[in-house]
Amino acid sequence: MDVLIIGNGGREHAITWKVAQSPEVNTVFCAPGNPGICEIAQSVDILPEDINGLCQFAKDKNIGLTIVGPETPLVDGIVDLFQENNLTIFGPRKMAAELEGSKVFSKNFMRKHGIPTAKFRVFDDFQSAARYVEFIAVPVVIKANGLAKGKGAIICKTNEEAISTLKSLMQDKIFGSAGEKVIVEEFLEGQEVSVLSITDGKSILVLETAQDYKAAYDQNKGPNTGGMGAYSPTTILTDKLYREIEKQVLVPTIHAMKREGRPFKGLLYTGLMVNLHEPKVNVLEYNVRFGDPETQPLMMRLKSDIVPLMLASINGTIGNCNIEWDPRPSVCVVAASNGYPEKYETDKEISGIDKVKEMDDVILFQAGTKKNNGKIATNGGRVLNITSIGDDIESARSKAYKAIEQVSFDGIFWRNDIAADL
Ligand code: AMP
Ligand code: GLY
Repeated sequence: MDVLIIGNGGREHAITWKVAQSPEVNTVFCAPGNPGICEIAQSVDILPEDINGLCQFAKDKNIGLTIVGPETPLVDGIVDLFQENNLTIFGPRKMAAELEGSKVFSKNFMRKHGIPTAKFRVFDDFQSAARYVEFIAVPVVIKANGLAKGKGAIICKTNEEAISTLKSLMQDKIFGSAGEKVIVEEFLEGQEVSVLSITDGKSILVLETAQDYKAAYDQNKGPNTGGMGAYSPTTILTDKLYREIEKQVLVPTIHAMKREGRPFKGLLYTGLMVNLHEPKVNVLEYNVRFGDPETQPLMMRLKSDIVPLMLASINGTIGNCNIEWDPRPSVCVVAASNGYPEKYETDKEISGIDKVKEMDDVILFQAGTKKNNGKIATNGGRVLNITSIGDDIESARSKAYKAIEQVSFDGIFWRNDIAADL
């Protein structure tokens, strides 16, 4: 069959790399892709937001499976549209994608079904919200209801900061309508873990764990980003905690979504805060798609063919599936462009990619890249995702860092402490 992958980041490069190895697959198309993806897939000049254009393309090319990378098309109902046109697509329908599309929906859902999460209040009026945060215990977390490109959760260390954050979300509307409603949430201490599972709406296949590094700089300093690196498996979850997560979070989420008439099919990403002292787990957020960059080390470790697993999610047969992993750990380090996650420059020529291609146990997934006159240049904040595998975490880590030293572009930076000191 031919497969269409939607998106253009490092996550999509990793998924394309994995899907292209499937014996079930002939041609892989990627809309729109990037220069790295286009070495293994055919680029399609349609943006992820153009769901009608993508649907027409899938019909014209008789695509056997479509895989959606980013959240926006899912929240906009791409799966509903494809299904109405008898096309096979992996992911949740619009009503289930609300788990990521609306934080108010997901927080109320968790409260209603007893899924552990931080205490919260919802506001749609600036004056009441500002009165509430004026004397509240800090730090406090303020979140925009809608999609905000991963920047919609703001940790406020003082009451004044909380009020000014509310002002920028609700009055200045820095995230547009996404900030018309906000959540004011208790700050949770602990360590974050991402648990990704493939589900068919009834059963769950939990993938190996991964840990993301959200802050821009070493020692978790600086602003939050989409993720500056990741490794898998995480060292912080004991078997007992892992089973608790299944019992308290994953199973109740899937069952409750089904009961609410919003069966969740596709990839469910739960962002968890784990407090190892208690030990206790809380859900920070749901995402309705693969994590970026968690997917990069996961794909490098995944031994099973991913295509039958996605088809099983669509066909309702996940309960019969097994999944096989390379037991060796994998580490991904992100090379970013100076200024990210705020304003950054683009069009900087990248060198050294070919040197990394010659290295063993390392794959360079491209993220924000493009071709300028035949040369690869920067085209985003997160530019390259160097991903490695090794006998132990230290050897995987040292391979990734040796490789990242080989690449350069004007303004390159990365975190030096991905998977360090574990
Ligand atoms: P979210 O978009 O809800 O995942 O939030 C983005 C990031 O903000 C998370 O990955 C955490 O690093 C941080 N965060 C969100 N909610 C909380 C919370 N209640 N307590 C502490 N940190 C949080
Ligand atoms: N790495 C975080 C995310 O994909 O949302």
